[in-house]
Amino acid sequence: MQAALSRPKLISLAAGFTDNASLPVAESRRLLNELLRATKTGRPALQYGTTAGEEPLRRLTAEHLHKLDSSSFSSSSFVLENEPRTRTRTKDEDEGNYSPERIIITGGSQQFLYMTTEALCDEGDIVLVEDPTYFVFLSILQSRNLRAHGVQLERDGVDLAHLEMVLARLKKAGELRRVKALYLVTYFQNPTGATTTLAKKRALLKLLKQYERAAGHPIYLIEDAAYRELAFGGRADLPFSPAERQLRPAAKNIAPPTALVLPGAKERVIYAGTYSKPYATGVRVGFGILPEPVYTAVLRIKGNHDFGTANLLQHLLARALASGLYDRHLAVARKNYARKAAVMKRAMAEHFPANIEIWEAAGGLYFWVRLPKKVSAGVNSKIFQTALKNDVLYVPGELCYAEDPWRRKPANEMRISFGHASAENIRAGIKRLGKVLRKLI
Ligand SMILES: Cc1ncc(COP(=O)(O)O)c(C=O)c1O
Repeated sequence: MQAALSRPKLISLAAGFTDNASLPVAESRRLLNELLRATKTGRPALQYGTTAGEEPLRRLTAEHLHKLDSSSFSSSSFVLENEPRTRTRTKDEDEGNYSPERIIITGGSQQFLYMTTEALCDEGDIVLVEDPTYFVFLSILQSRNLRAHGVQLERDGVDLAHLEMVLARLKKAGELRRVKALYLVTYFQNPTGATTTLAKKRALLKLLKQYERAAGHPIYLIEDAAYRELAFGGRADLPFSPAERQLRPAAKNIAPPTALVLPGAKERVIYAGTYSKPYATGVRVGFGILPEPVYTAVLRIKGNHDFGTANLLQHLLARALASGLYDRHLAVARKNYARKAAVMKRAMAEHFPANIEIWEAAGGLYFWVRLPKKVSAGVNSKIFQTALKNDVLYVPGELCYAEDPWRRKPANEMRISFGHASAENIRAGIKRLGKVLRKLI
């Protein structure tokens, strides 16, 4: 991020920044003007609030999530193998899981992930993660002296057979009692763009439950849905490479419901959400939904961190949600990302060598690029260093793998973002990178 900000000639396809041009400047000005026009609305916004967050924002967040999950079930663009298009939802799902009393508003979802990890884990504990996963989460684990085990990731979520193998292996090694959670980035994953189907969420929740008796405590599913609302709304082609090009069947699951709709979710699912990506990263407000007793533990930690997220920002977001401005902005942002992703796809097809596999995104901010197995794209590799010399930056995929003693980290992958760069810079950046790849592979 620092490199992106401090080297004007550098084209960063690395940072997970959102699109600059479509940030809601005019919308936010209008909302803040409304808010601060009268003392009656201005004063509460400029005062301390509560640790859990402002009630209107928690209520609007609950309603918003409930609406998203309900529409995922009925949406015609959303089809899941083995899942009924519609079904009767239980009273518990409708009223319990999305209750504002279970929601905490945080300084970005990053703060929420940190506090949740602190609440759940003691030093030496284990968190299972997708292999690869969101690298800043890995650094939270590292900073707290926690261990991570990776579960292989497929285009539709973790490999269930591998998850079972990892759990069985930990059980055999007498380590199951150290396993506290499975952390998943379930929509348009950072870094791969993969989306976890509801069928997989259902199956893995069941699997975790099966191992709880041997663990002696709950094993939580932490569902990080940071990119959930950034679905392009169209069909995504599964991995393509300019060479193979015979497109495999298109991914149909554009944005499945969250694990909150599943039986037992109220006790075991910890949901991390954010308004950063869909609205503005500079506003930096996130939220979480938690079961007891984790909710109370996280609330206490939040009390010690900052006893409440900035009230002004919470009021701003509450107004954006209630007025419909949030949805209108999001519609524009999604179209914009879809367009930039298409620009990136075309540029890759034109400039990248043929023997490269690309996981195409159906939403979110990233493409995942896999070079031939023996080629390194890591931080110290010739490819990364030459790319940097040529003023183009990507995230080396190796950074997204946990320090897992059970496997070697692949070094042949790259995360490439279309989030921040303009369409023009995406074209230029991919062209520069393509030149480096053609020369060095
Ligand atoms: C998967 C994932 N989770 C959480 C976050 C944190 O975002 P924020 O703290 O802005 O909500 C990010 C940011 O890039 C992310 O990629």
